[in-house]
Amino acid sequence: MHDWKSILQLLPPERRSADIRLVARHTDVYEPCDDSYALVDALLADRANLCELHPSICLEVGCGSGYVITSLALMLSDLKDTRFIATDISKSAVETTRLTLEAHNVNADVLVADLVSGIDTHLAGAVDLLVFNPPYVPTPDDEVGIGGIASAWAGGHKGRIVIDCMLEIVDSILSPKGWFYLVTVAANCPGEICQIMRRKGFASRIAIQRSTEEESLHVLKFWRDASNEASDSSNPVSPSGRTSFMQRSLPHHLSRLVSFKPT
Ligand SMILES: C[S@@+](CC[C@H](N)C(=O)[O-])C[C@H]1O[C@@H](n2cnc3c(N)ncnc32)[C@H](O)[C@@H]1O
Repeated sequence: MHDWKSILQLLPPERRSADIRLVARHTDVYEPCDDSYALVDALLADRANLCELHPSICLEVGCGSGYVITSLALMLSDLKDTRFIATDISKSAVETTRLTLEAHNVNADVLVADLVSGIDTHLAGAVDLLVFNPPYVPTPDDEVGIGGIASAWAGGHKGRIVIDCMLEIVDSILSPKGWFYLVTVAANCPGEICQIMRRKGFASRIAIQRSTEEESLHVLKFWRDASNEASDSSNPVSPSGRTSFMQRSLPHHLSRLVSFKPT
């Protein structure tokens, strides 16, 4: 029999993500899907920069099966003194995440919470890395938060109800050097999300864009714009040290992308 835990430890960190065979399952809990993989791929692609960032606190909101927080803990396992925290509104998701973490031999504090309610004071200005794959599917508003598996996808008008609640609190929990990765689909109007975040003082870029048969996914990355000049500069430099045209024009670029409809 294969010992997947040992095989994982042999992989170089830049290829380490949770092994799907070791991810726990529950009927009420979202199974890792294209959006989960896109988020982990975005984090893996940024791993060298994440190591340089050396986050003290990494937080995943809406951890579901635990696939993302476990992958994050594995890919950053070389870092000392990094604490991993995960929350989910669903008790079953919290239990499932704990099993997934245990199966991969990594640790995180996992709590039942509506976003970060109950730990918001503790986390104020302290989160260096925040990741969220939210319930983003447009539905009637009264389907949001009804519990069961629907909580994993029901997002209300434009799929934005839970996303917008998160945008309200990002500024208060993210540290000055903090980064925020958010999964969105075209229906969420990602360009508008970037504009909202821009007004709060955050720059943005598309970390990953993927089109599946069902949806057009974007993983957006946000960070505090050090100065207003940075966004007006003709040569902006991203936290990864690379000059980025996208960074300047992302809201505009996204509004064009999301209004594109293949015939
Ligand atoms: C699309 S699933 C993502 C699960 C997992 N992170 C992944 O990528 O596979 C969204 C998750 O957010 C959780 N969720 C929904 N509303 C929430 C809220 N207000 N606070 C915390 N978690 C929430 C759901 O229970 C679900 O587990």
